[in-house]
Amino acid sequence: MTVHEAAAEAPGGAGVPNQDSASERRDPVTVHEAAAEAPGGAGVPNQDSDHDAVYGPVESWERDFDHADPSYNRQAHAVWEQLRGSCPIARTERYGGAWLPVTHELVREIAYDTEHFSSRGVVASTGRPDIAAPIGPAPPITSDPPFHQIARRLLLPPFAPKQIEPWEDEIRLVCRQRLDAMGEIEPGTTVIDAALQYAQHIPVNVISRMLGFPLEDDDLFREFVHDQLEGVNRPVEARQWAFDRLDDYVDNQVREHIEHPRDDLTSYLLSAEIGGNPLSADHVRGTIVLLLLAGIDTTWSAIGSSIWHLAGHPDHRRRLREDPDVWTFAVEELLRAYAPVTMARLVADDVEFHGCPMKTEEWVLLPFPAANRDPEFFEQADEVVLDRQENRHAAFGLGIHRCLGSNLARLELRVALEEFLTRFEEFELSDPEAVTWSVGQIRGPRSLPVRILAATR
Ligand code: HEM
Repeated sequence: MTVHEAAAEAPGGAGVPNQDSASERRDPVTVHEAAAEAPGGAGVPNQDSDHDAVYGPVESWERDFDHADPSYNRQAHAVWEQLRGSCPIARTERYGGAWLPVTHELVREIAYDTEHFSSRGVVASTGRPDIAAPIGPAPPITSDPPFHQIARRLLLPPFAPKQIEPWEDEIRLVCRQRLDAMGEIEPGTTVIDAALQYAQHIPVNVISRMLGFPLEDDDLFREFVHDQLEGVNRPVEARQWAFDRLDDYVDNQVREHIEHPRDDLTSYLLSAEIGGNPLSADHVRGTIVLLLLAGIDTTWSAIGSSIWHLAGHPDHRRRLREDPDVWTFAVEELLRAYAPVTMARLVADDVEFHGCPMKTEEWVLLPFPAANRDPEFFEQADEVVLDRQENRHAAFGLGIHRCLGSNLARLELRVALEEFLTRFEEFELSDPEAVTWSVGQIRGPRSLPVRILAATR
Protein backbone atom coordinates (compact mmCIF):
# COMPACT_ATOMS: atom_id res chain seq x y z
CA MET A 1 0.00 0.00 0.00
CA THR A 2 1.30 3.44 -0.84
CA VAL A 3 1.17 6.33 1.58
CA HIS A 4 -1.40 7.79 -0.76
CA GLU A 5 -3.65 4.73 -0.51
CA ALA A 6 -3.20 4.72 3.21
CA ALA A 7 -4.45 8.27 3.30
CA ALA A 8 -7.76 6.88 2.13
CA GLU A 9 -7.60 4.21 4.80
CA ALA A 10 -6.49 6.66 7.46
CA PRO A 11 -7.47 10.25 6.88
CA GLY A 12 -4.39 12.43 7.18
CA GLY A 13 -1.97 9.68 6.11
CA ALA A 14 1.58 9.09 7.22
CA GLY A 15 2.67 12.58 6.31
CA VAL A 16 0.23 14.06 8.81
CA PRO A 17 1.24 12.34 11.96
CA ASN A 18 -0.53 14.13 14.75
CA GLN A 19 -4.02 14.60 13.54
CA ASP A 20 -5.77 13.28 16.61
CA SER A 21 -3.19 13.66 19.33
CA ALA A 22 -4.58 15.03 22.53
CA SER A 23 -4.16 18.75 22.33
CA GLU A 24 -3.51 19.17 26.00
CA ARG A 25 -0.52 16.88 26.13
CA ARG A 26 2.77 18.27 27.28
CA ASP A 27 5.94 18.48 25.29
CA PRO A 28 8.17 15.43 25.47
CA VAL A 29 10.00 15.22 28.77
CA THR A 30 12.30 12.60 30.13
CA VAL A 31 10.98 9.76 32.24
CA HIS A 32 12.83 11.21 35.18
CA GLU A 33 11.32 14.67 34.79
CA ALA A 34 7.90 13.16 34.27
CA ALA A 35 8.14 11.25 37.52
CA ALA A 36 9.02 14.44 39.37
CA GLU A 37 6.13 16.29 37.73
CA ALA A 38 3.50 13.61 38.26
CA PRO A 39 0.96 15.03 40.68
CA GLY A 40 0.93 13.29 43.98
CA GLY A 41 3.84 10.95 43.26
CA ALA A 42 3.49 7.28 44.14
CA GLY A 43 -0.06 6.07 44.63
CA VAL A 44 -1.49 8.45 42.04
CA PRO A 45 -4.80 7.01 40.93
CA ASN A 46 -4.90 5.68 37.46
CA GLN A 47 -7.13 8.26 35.79
CA ASP A 48 -7.91 7.12 32.32
CA SER A 49 -7.22 10.07 30.09
CA ASP A 50 -4.78 11.28 27.51
CA HIS A 51 -4.19 14.30 29.69
CA ASP A 52 -1.54 12.64 31.84
CA ALA A 53 0.45 11.47 28.81
CA VAL A 54 4.17 12.08 29.24
CA TYR A 55 4.98 12.59 25.55
CA GLY A 56 3.21 14.79 23.03
CA PRO A 57 2.66 14.64 19.29
CA VAL A 58 5.21 12.94 17.03
CA GLU A 59 7.47 15.27 15.05
CA SER A 60 8.95 12.70 12.66
CA TRP A 61 8.42 8.96 12.35
CA GLU A 62 12.12 8.47 11.53
CA ARG A 63 13.62 10.39 14.47
CA ASP A 64 10.80 10.76 16.98
CA PHE A 65 8.45 7.79 16.53
CA ASP A 66 5.96 6.93 19.24
CA HIS A 67 3.99 3.66 19.19
CA ALA A 68 1.54 5.30 21.63
CA ASP A 69 0.80 8.32 19.46
CA PRO A 70 -2.98 8.10 18.97
CA SER A 71 -2.54 8.31 15.18
CA TYR A 72 0.09 5.56 14.89
CA ASN A 73 -1.99 2.40 14.68
CA ARG A 74 -4.51 3.89 12.28
CA GLN A 75 -1.81 4.57 9.72
CA ALA A 76 0.81 2.01 10.81
CA HIS A 77 1.02 0.23 7.44
CA ALA A 78 1.85 3.48 5.68
CA VAL A 79 4.33 4.52 8.39
CA TRP A 80 6.20 1.22 8.04
CA GLU A 81 6.26 1.51 4.28
CA GLN A 82 7.62 5.04 4.54
CA LEU A 83 10.28 3.92 7.03
CA ARG A 84 11.29 0.92 4.91
CA GLY A 85 12.10 3.37 2.14
CA SER A 86 13.84 6.03 4.21
CA CYS A 87 15.43 4.34 7.22
CA PRO A 88 14.76 0.77 8.19
CA ILE A 89 15.55 1.43 11.89
CA ALA A 90 13.69 4.42 13.31
CA ARG A 91 14.73 6.13 16.52
CA THR A 92 13.06 8.02 19.35
CA GLU A 93 14.40 9.66 22.50
CA ARG A 94 11.05 8.98 24.16
CA TYR A 95 10.66 6.23 26.76
CA GLY A 96 14.33 6.54 27.71
CA GLY A 97 15.34 5.78 24.11
CA ALA A 98 13.84 3.29 21.66
CA TRP A 99 14.44 1.79 18.20
CA LEU A 100 12.00 0.50 15.59
CA PRO A 101 13.32 -1.82 12.85
CA VAL A 102 10.73 -2.41 10.14
CA THR A 103 12.08 -5.08 7.79
CA HIS A 104 11.52 -8.82 8.18
CA GLU A 105 15.27 -9.49 8.22
CA LEU A 106 16.01 -7.02 11.03
CA VAL A 107 13.03 -8.02 13.17
CA ARG A 108 14.02 -11.66 12.79
CA GLU A 109 17.66 -11.01 13.66
CA ILE A 110 16.75 -9.27 16.92
CA ALA A 111 14.08 -11.82 17.88
CA TYR A 112 16.67 -14.61 17.60
CA ASP A 113 19.43 -12.69 19.42
CA THR A 114 18.51 -13.27 23.06
CA GLU A 115 22.05 -12.43 24.18
CA HIS A 116 21.96 -8.75 23.21
CA PHE A 117 18.19 -8.23 23.43
CA SER A 118 16.48 -9.22 26.67
CA SER A 119 12.78 -10.02 27.06
CA ARG A 120 12.79 -8.70 30.65
CA GLY A 121 10.62 -5.88 29.32
CA VAL A 122 8.27 -6.54 26.39
CA VAL A 123 6.00 -3.51 26.61
CA ALA A 124 7.88 -0.29 25.81
CA SER A 125 6.69 2.29 28.31
CA THR A 126 7.86 5.15 30.51
CA GLY A 127 9.33 2.81 33.15
CA ARG A 128 11.43 -0.34 33.31
CA PRO A 129 10.43 -3.65 34.98
CA ASP A 130 11.93 -4.05 38.42
CA ILE A 131 12.30 -7.84 38.32
CA ALA A 132 15.66 -8.99 36.96
CA ALA A 133 16.45 -11.30 34.04
CA PRO A 134 16.33 -14.21 33.41
CA ILE A 135 12.88 -14.66 35.04
CA GLY A 136 11.31 -11.22 34.61
CA PRO A 137 7.86 -10.19 35.86
CA ALA A 138 5.69 -12.43 33.63
CA PRO A 139 7.35 -15.76 32.77
CA PRO A 140 7.86 -17.09 30.15
CA ILE A 141 7.32 -14.01 27.95
CA THR A 142 9.64 -11.87 30.09
CA SER A 143 12.18 -14.64 30.67
CA ASP A 144 15.55 -15.08 28.97
CA PRO A 145 17.48 -18.33 28.54
CA PRO A 146 18.07 -20.57 30.35
CA PHE A 147 15.00 -19.99 32.57
CA HIS A 148 12.72 -19.26 29.63
CA GLN A 149 12.64 -22.86 28.45
CA ILE A 150 11.70 -24.12 31.94
CA ALA A 151 8.84 -21.64 32.29
CA ARG A 152 7.64 -22.23 28.72
CA ARG A 153 7.63 -26.01 29.09
CA LEU A 154 5.18 -25.68 32.01
CA LEU A 155 2.63 -24.03 29.73
CA LEU A 156 2.91 -26.38 26.76
CA PRO A 157 0.44 -29.06 27.98
CA PRO A 158 -2.56 -26.78 28.64
CA PHE A 159 -2.17 -25.07 25.25
CA ALA A 160 -1.56 -28.21 23.17
CA PRO A 161 -4.04 -28.78 20.29
CA LYS A 162 -5.74 -31.67 22.15
CA GLN A 163 -6.58 -29.40 25.07
CA ILE A 164 -7.70 -26.50 22.91
CA GLU A 165 -9.90 -28.29 20.31
CA PRO A 166 -12.68 -29.11 22.84
CA TRP A 167 -13.17 -25.36 23.39
CA GLU A 168 -14.68 -24.96 19.92
CA ASP A 169 -18.29 -25.52 21.02
CA GLU A 170 -17.95 -23.07 23.92
CA ILE A 171 -16.47 -20.42 21.64
CA ARG A 172 -19.25 -20.92 19.10
CA LEU A 173 -21.83 -20.55 21.85
CA VAL A 174 -20.29 -17.29 23.09
CA CYS A 175 -20.28 -15.93 19.52
CA ARG A 176 -23.92 -16.85 18.95
CA GLN A 177 -24.96 -15.35 22.29
CA ARG A 178 -23.25 -12.11 21.32
CA LEU A 179 -24.95 -12.06 17.94
CA ASP A 180 -28.33 -12.80 19.54
CA ALA A 181 -27.76 -10.01 22.06
CA MET A 182 -27.64 -7.50 19.19
CA GLY A 183 -31.43 -7.80 18.99
CA GLU A 184 -33.63 -7.16 15.98
CA ILE A 185 -31.57 -6.52 12.84
CA GLU A 186 -33.11 -4.45 10.05
CA PRO A 187 -30.98 -5.01 6.95
CA GLY A 188 -29.82 -1.77 5.39
CA THR A 189 -30.49 0.19 8.55
CA THR A 190 -29.09 -1.51 11.64
CA VAL A 191 -25.57 -0.51 12.62
CA ILE A 192 -23.72 -2.66 15.14
CA ASP A 193 -20.29 -2.13 16.67
CA ALA A 194 -18.39 -5.26 15.68
CA ALA A 195 -15.49 -4.47 18.05
CA LEU A 196 -17.49 -3.51 21.14
CA GLN A 197 -20.56 -5.71 20.76
CA TYR A 198 -18.75 -8.73 19.34
CA ALA A 199 -14.97 -9.13 19.01
CA GLN A 200 -13.97 -7.95 22.47
CA HIS A 201 -16.20 -10.41 24.32
CA ILE A 202 -14.95 -13.64 22.78
CA PRO A 203 -11.36 -13.88 24.10
CA VAL A 204 -12.27 -12.41 27.50
CA ASN A 205 -14.89 -15.04 28.02
CA VAL A 206 -12.57 -17.88 27.00
CA ILE A 207 -9.55 -16.87 29.06
CA SER A 208 -11.68 -16.16 32.18
CA ARG A 209 -13.12 -19.66 31.93
CA MET A 210 -9.70 -21.18 31.41
CA LEU A 211 -8.25 -19.41 34.43
CA GLY A 212 -11.36 -20.03 36.53
CA PHE A 213 -11.98 -16.30 37.10
CA PRO A 214 -15.47 -14.77 37.52
CA LEU A 215 -17.02 -14.13 34.10
CA GLU A 216 -18.74 -11.03 35.45
CA ASP A 217 -15.33 -9.38 35.92
CA ASP A 218 -14.93 -9.05 32.15
CA ASP A 219 -15.10 -5.23 32.19
CA LEU A 220 -12.37 -5.21 34.81
CA PHE A 221 -10.16 -7.47 32.65
CA ARG A 222 -10.51 -5.09 29.73
CA GLU A 223 -9.59 -2.22 32.05
CA PHE A 224 -6.46 -4.11 33.13
CA VAL A 225 -5.51 -4.72 29.53
CA HIS A 226 -6.13 -1.09 28.62
CA ASP A 227 -4.03 0.17 31.55
CA GLN A 228 -1.11 -2.17 30.90
CA LEU A 229 -0.94 -2.17 27.12
CA GLU A 230 -2.42 1.17 26.08
CA GLY A 231 -1.37 3.36 29.01
CA VAL A 232 2.34 3.10 28.16
CA ASN A 233 2.68 6.87 27.78
CA ARG A 234 1.66 7.61 31.36
CA PRO A 235 3.90 8.66 34.25
CA VAL A 236 5.60 5.74 35.97
CA GLU A 237 3.58 6.30 39.17
CA ALA A 238 0.29 5.93 37.34
CA ARG A 239 1.58 2.76 35.71
CA GLN A 240 2.74 1.36 39.04
CA TRP A 241 -0.70 2.01 40.49
CA ALA A 242 -2.22 -0.02 37.63
CA PHE A 243 0.30 -2.87 38.10
CA ASP A 244 -0.50 -3.04 41.82
CA ARG A 245 -4.23 -3.10 41.15
CA LEU A 246 -3.87 -5.99 38.72
CA ASP A 247 -1.52 -7.88 41.06
CA ASP A 248 -3.98 -7.47 43.95
CA TYR A 249 -6.82 -8.82 41.84
CA VAL A 250 -4.80 -11.86 40.73
CA ASP A 251 -3.53 -12.50 44.29
CA ASN A 252 -7.15 -12.64 45.50
CA GLN A 253 -8.08 -15.12 42.79
CA VAL A 254 -5.03 -17.23 43.61
CA ARG A 255 -5.93 -17.26 47.32
CA GLU A 256 -9.42 -18.38 46.44
CA HIS A 257 -7.98 -21.19 44.28
CA ILE A 258 -5.65 -22.30 47.07
CA GLU A 259 -8.70 -22.66 49.33
CA HIS A 260 -10.86 -24.28 46.63
CA PRO A 261 -8.68 -26.02 44.03
CA ARG A 262 -10.42 -26.97 40.79
CA ASP A 263 -9.76 -28.09 37.25
CA ASP A 264 -8.52 -24.88 35.66
CA LEU A 265 -5.31 -23.15 34.63
CA THR A 266 -4.86 -21.33 37.95
CA SER A 267 -5.01 -24.57 39.95
CA TYR A 268 -2.76 -26.18 37.34
CA LEU A 269 -0.09 -23.51 37.95
CA LEU A 270 -0.48 -23.85 41.72
CA SER A 271 0.22 -27.56 41.52
CA ALA A 272 3.06 -27.27 38.97
CA GLU A 273 6.66 -27.81 40.04
CA ILE A 274 10.13 -26.84 38.90
CA GLY A 275 12.82 -29.27 40.06
CA GLY A 276 10.46 -30.77 42.64
CA ASN A 277 9.52 -27.37 44.13
CA PRO A 278 6.26 -25.47 43.70
CA LEU A 279 6.38 -22.28 41.63
CA SER A 280 7.05 -19.09 43.58
CA ALA A 281 4.06 -16.81 44.24
CA ASP A 282 5.66 -14.24 41.89
CA HIS A 283 5.92 -16.83 39.12
CA VAL A 284 2.27 -17.93 39.46
CA ARG A 285 1.04 -14.32 39.56
CA GLY A 286 3.27 -13.25 36.65
CA THR A 287 2.15 -16.10 34.41
CA ILE A 288 -1.52 -15.46 35.16
CA VAL A 289 -1.05 -11.76 34.38
CA LEU A 290 0.63 -12.76 31.12
CA LEU A 291 -2.23 -15.08 30.11
CA LEU A 292 -4.84 -12.49 30.96
CA LEU A 293 -3.07 -9.81 28.90
CA ALA A 294 -1.84 -12.03 26.06
CA GLY A 295 -5.17 -13.74 25.62
CA ILE A 296 -7.47 -10.74 25.36
CA ASP A 297 -6.28 -7.72 23.37
CA THR A 298 -4.46 -9.81 20.79
CA THR A 299 -7.37 -11.97 19.67
CA TRP A 300 -9.89 -9.15 20.03
CA SER A 301 -7.69 -7.15 17.63
CA ALA A 302 -7.28 -9.99 15.15
CA ILE A 303 -11.05 -10.62 14.99
CA GLY A 304 -11.80 -6.89 14.72
CA SER A 305 -9.24 -6.21 11.97
CA SER A 306 -10.50 -9.20 9.97
CA ILE A 307 -14.10 -7.96 10.15
CA TRP A 308 -12.84 -4.47 9.21
CA HIS A 309 -11.17 -6.00 6.13
CA LEU A 310 -14.18 -8.12 5.15
CA ALA A 311 -16.51 -5.12 5.49
CA GLY A 312 -14.62 -3.52 2.60
CA HIS A 313 -14.20 -6.66 0.46
CA PRO A 314 -17.49 -8.24 -0.72
CA ASP A 315 -15.48 -10.56 -3.02
CA HIS A 316 -13.66 -12.03 0.00
CA ARG A 317 -16.92 -12.46 1.91
CA ARG A 318 -18.37 -14.31 -1.07
CA ARG A 319 -15.31 -16.53 -1.44
CA LEU A 320 -15.47 -17.50 2.25
CA ARG A 321 -19.16 -18.31 1.95
CA GLU A 322 -18.78 -20.37 -1.20
CA ASP A 323 -15.44 -22.11 -0.77
CA PRO A 324 -15.00 -23.85 2.61
CA ASP A 325 -11.55 -25.05 1.57
CA VAL A 326 -10.21 -21.50 1.55
CA TRP A 327 -10.75 -20.97 5.28
CA THR A 328 -7.45 -22.47 6.46
CA PHE A 329 -5.51 -20.19 4.12
CA ALA A 330 -7.71 -17.20 4.79
CA VAL A 331 -7.22 -17.31 8.56
CA GLU A 332 -3.43 -17.35 8.10
CA GLU A 333 -3.58 -14.57 5.51
CA LEU A 334 -5.71 -12.33 7.72
CA LEU A 335 -3.28 -12.98 10.56
CA ARG A 336 -0.38 -12.05 8.28
CA ALA A 337 -1.91 -8.90 6.83
CA TYR A 338 -3.44 -7.64 10.09
CA ALA A 339 -1.03 -9.10 12.64
CA PRO A 340 -1.88 -7.30 15.85
CA VAL A 341 1.20 -7.86 18.05
CA THR A 342 4.42 -5.85 18.27
CA MET A 343 6.68 -6.92 21.12
CA ALA A 344 9.63 -5.12 22.70
CA ARG A 345 13.07 -6.04 23.95
CA LEU A 346 15.52 -4.25 26.24
CA VAL A 347 19.10 -3.83 25.05
CA ALA A 348 21.12 -6.05 27.44
CA ASP A 349 24.48 -4.31 26.88
CA ASP A 350 25.63 -1.53 24.57
CA VAL A 351 25.69 -2.91 21.05
CA GLU A 352 26.23 -1.56 17.54
CA PHE A 353 23.37 -3.01 15.45
CA HIS A 354 23.57 -2.34 11.70
CA GLY A 355 25.23 1.00 12.41
CA CYS A 356 22.85 1.96 15.25
CA PRO A 357 24.50 2.59 18.63
CA MET A 358 22.00 0.85 20.91
CA LYS A 359 22.53 1.57 24.61
CA THR A 360 21.87 -0.67 27.62
CA GLU A 361 18.23 -0.51 28.78
CA GLU A 362 16.97 1.18 25.62
CA TRP A 363 13.88 -0.36 24.06
CA VAL A 364 13.80 -2.12 20.71
CA LEU A 365 10.35 -2.73 19.25
CA LEU A 366 9.76 -5.87 17.21
CA PRO A 367 6.89 -4.98 14.86
CA PHE A 368 5.99 -8.47 13.63
CA PRO A 369 3.13 -6.87 11.66
CA ALA A 370 5.66 -4.75 9.73
CA ALA A 371 7.77 -7.84 9.02
CA ASN A 372 4.62 -9.43 7.59
CA ARG A 373 4.22 -6.62 5.08
CA ASP A 374 7.83 -6.49 3.92
CA PRO A 375 7.82 -6.79 0.11
CA GLU A 376 11.32 -8.30 0.25
CA PHE A 377 9.84 -11.27 2.10
CA PHE A 378 6.29 -11.58 0.73
CA GLU A 379 4.99 -11.14 -2.79
CA GLN A 380 2.05 -8.73 -2.93
CA ALA A 381 2.84 -7.99 0.71
CA ASP A 382 0.23 -5.25 1.03
CA GLU A 383 -2.58 -7.26 -0.53
CA VAL A 384 -4.79 -9.81 1.13
CA VAL A 385 -4.47 -12.91 -1.05
CA LEU A 386 -7.12 -15.05 0.58
CA ASP A 387 -5.73 -18.38 -0.66
CA ARG A 388 -2.02 -17.52 -0.25
CA GLN A 389 -0.33 -20.92 -0.26
CA GLU A 390 3.12 -20.13 1.09
CA ASN A 391 2.70 -17.98 4.14
CA ARG A 392 5.52 -18.08 6.69
CA HIS A 393 4.15 -15.09 8.54
CA ALA A 394 5.47 -13.76 11.84
CA ALA A 395 2.14 -12.83 13.47
CA PHE A 396 2.87 -15.22 16.34
CA GLY A 397 6.48 -14.07 16.68
CA LEU A 398 9.85 -15.48 15.72
CA GLY A 399 12.34 -17.43 17.83
CA ILE A 400 12.06 -18.90 21.31
CA HIS A 401 9.06 -16.80 22.44
CA ARG A 402 6.75 -17.89 19.61
CA CYS A 403 3.16 -17.64 20.79
CA LEU A 404 2.02 -20.45 23.07
CA GLY A 405 -1.62 -19.56 22.55
CA SER A 406 -1.57 -19.79 18.74
CA ASN A 407 -3.85 -22.87 18.60
CA LEU A 408 -6.40 -21.09 20.74
CA ALA A 409 -6.02 -17.80 18.86
CA ARG A 410 -6.55 -19.48 15.48
CA LEU A 411 -9.61 -21.33 16.78
CA GLU A 412 -11.17 -18.17 18.24
CA LEU A 413 -10.49 -16.19 15.07
CA ARG A 414 -11.91 -18.84 12.74
CA VAL A 415 -15.04 -19.54 14.79
CA ALA A 416 -15.71 -15.82 15.39
CA LEU A 417 -15.50 -15.09 11.65
CA GLU A 418 -17.54 -18.15 10.66
CA GLU A 419 -20.35 -17.20 13.02
CA PHE A 420 -20.30 -13.53 12.05
CA LEU A 421 -20.43 -14.33 8.33
CA THR A 422 -23.14 -16.95 8.83
CA ARG A 423 -25.36 -14.46 10.65
CA PHE A 424 -24.47 -11.41 8.58
CA GLU A 425 -24.01 -12.33 4.93
CA GLU A 426 -23.48 -8.77 3.77
CA PHE A 427 -22.18 -5.79 5.69
CA GLU A 428 -20.16 -2.61 5.22
CA LEU A 429 -18.46 0.03 7.35
CA SER A 430 -21.22 2.50 8.19
CA ASP A 431 -18.72 5.34 8.53
CA PRO A 432 -15.02 4.61 7.93
CA GLU A 433 -14.12 7.83 9.78
CA ALA A 434 -15.82 6.56 12.92
CA VAL A 435 -13.55 3.52 13.26
CA THR A 436 -11.14 4.00 16.16
CA TRP A 437 -7.89 2.08 16.66
CA SER A 438 -6.10 0.90 19.77
CA VAL A 439 -3.08 2.72 21.16
CA GLY A 440 0.28 1.01 21.66
CA GLN A 441 1.84 -2.27 20.64
CA ILE A 442 -1.35 -4.24 20.01
CA ARG A 443 -3.09 -3.00 16.86
CA GLY A 444 -6.77 -3.44 16.22
CA PRO A 445 -10.07 -1.54 15.94
CA ARG A 446 -11.61 -0.53 19.24
CA SER A 447 -14.83 0.79 17.75
CA LEU A 448 -16.03 -0.67 14.47
CA PRO A 449 -19.47 0.52 13.32
CA VAL A 450 -20.78 -1.88 10.70
CA ARG A 451 -24.07 -1.57 8.78
CA ILE A 452 -25.76 -4.92 8.25
CA LEU A 453 -26.99 -5.34 4.69
CA ALA A 454 -28.21 -8.94 4.77
CA ALA A 455 -28.81 -11.17 7.78
CA THR A 456 -29.97 -14.76 8.13
CA ARG A 457 -32.28 -13.90 10.99
C1 HEM B 1 -4.24 -13.47 17.41
C2 HEM B 1 -3.88 -13.65 18.66
C3 HEM B 1 -2.47 -13.67 19.15
C4 HEM B 1 -1.34 -13.17 18.57
C5 HEM B 1 -1.21 -12.45 17.23
C6 HEM B 1 -0.24 -13.46 19.47
C7 HEM B 1 1.06 -13.09 19.22
C8 HEM B 1 2.14 -13.40 20.05
C9 HEM B 1 3.50 -13.03 19.79
C10 HEM B 1 3.96 -12.19 18.61
C11 HEM B 1 4.27 -13.57 20.77
C12 HEM B 1 5.80 -13.47 20.87
C13 HEM B 1 6.22 -12.53 21.94
C14 HEM B 1 7.68 -12.18 21.91
O1 HEM B 1 8.42 -12.52 20.99
O2 HEM B 1 8.10 -11.50 22.86
C15 HEM B 1 3.38 -14.24 21.68
C16 HEM B 1 3.79 -14.93 22.81
C17 HEM B 1 2.91 -15.52 23.70
N1 HEM B 1 1.55 -15.64 23.56
FE1 HEM B 1 0.42 -14.97 22.02
N2 HEM B 1 -0.72 -14.11 20.55
C18 HEM B 1 -2.08 -14.27 20.40
C19 HEM B 1 -2.93 -14.89 21.27
C20 HEM B 1 -2.56 -15.52 22.43
C21 HEM B 1 -3.46 -16.23 23.32
C22 HEM B 1 -4.97 -16.38 23.09
C23 HEM B 1 -2.71 -16.67 24.36
C24 HEM B 1 -3.12 -17.46 25.58
C25 HEM B 1 -4.18 -17.30 26.24
C26 HEM B 1 -1.33 -16.30 24.11
C27 HEM B 1 -0.27 -16.61 24.92
C28 HEM B 1 1.06 -16.31 24.65
C29 HEM B 1 2.16 -16.65 25.53
C30 HEM B 1 2.05 -17.40 26.86
C31 HEM B 1 3.33 -16.16 24.93
C32 HEM B 1 4.74 -16.25 25.48
C33 HEM B 1 5.52 -17.40 24.89
C34 HEM B 1 6.97 -17.42 25.34
O3 HEM B 1 7.47 -16.43 25.84
O4 HEM B 1 7.61 -18.47 25.21
N3 HEM B 1 -1.29 -15.60 22.94
N4 HEM B 1 2.09 -14.14 21.21
